[in-house]
Amino acid sequence: MASEFQTSVPVHVCIIMDGNGRWAKKRLMPRTYGHRKGVETTRLAVEFFARAGVKHLTLFAFSSENWNRPEEEVNSLMDLFMQSLRQYTRELNEKQIRIRFIGDRSSFSADLQQQIAATEKETGDNRQMVLNIAANYGGRWDIVNACCRLAEQVKDGLIAVTDIDERRFASGLSLGDSPDPDLFIRTGGERRISNFLLWQLAYTECYFCDTLWPDFSEAEMSAALEDYSRRQRRFGKTGEQIEAPG
Ligand code: FPP
Repeated sequence: MASEFQTSVPVHVCIIMDGNGRWAKKRLMPRTYGHRKGVETTRLAVEFFARAGVKHLTLFAFSSENWNRPEEEVNSLMDLFMQSLRQYTRELNEKQIRIRFIGDRSSFSADLQQQIAATEKETGDNRQMVLNIAANYGGRWDIVNACCRLAEQVKDGLIAVTDIDERRFASGLSLGDSPDPDLFIRTGGERRISNFLLWQLAYTECYFCDTLWPDFSEAEMSAALEDYSRRQRRFGKTGEQIEAPG
């Protein structure tokens, strides 16, 4: 039976879920309404990409810069994270999905930090897919952290400066134990990376679409995978080298 998915399924997909606010504004509703609708799309996307065979899905839920939004919106997003974790942990376990948070969680309330740790623990043995939620995350923050880790190791005499290479550096990043993303998706019309996984996106295929996140349907998720399956990944080589290796 033909599979509903392409043969070259990306191992790691990462997404900037943009457009919740504009989606709500178009309906004369508060931005928070858009975020609530956005959670439904997030649930659909997690289910869809797991079913497609994607092994790592990384979602940008809250950037370090998002604290600058109106207090009411920030509070509402925090409530949504809390509710979603409580509500969907069982479903994640049923689908064998492990959830993990990346970012500086120390700025979240004690309750939210506890809930995050509990959900990470409860889903920690699941093996179908790893769902990374980037929350209070910034790509530059991640790189500076990795640098500090290496500096500490040099200071403690554990490694020499000459031991530092790309592999060792990357292992100190938040996703140091995961393959780099194959496919980056951004909804909502903007064509930028916005301080997401700066190091890890070096060779990632980018897919931008105008659809606002709450409207990002399974058909559009399929279209992104289909588009990816037509890309030729060259990693700096020529097209001819890829077509005739050796
Ligand atoms: C960007 O839209 C979206 C966010 C900053 C929040 C994303 C969060 C969710 C979709 C909820 C995810 C929930 C979990 C549990 C991971 P925007 O507000 O920047 O939209 P705009 O560009 O139209 O203003």
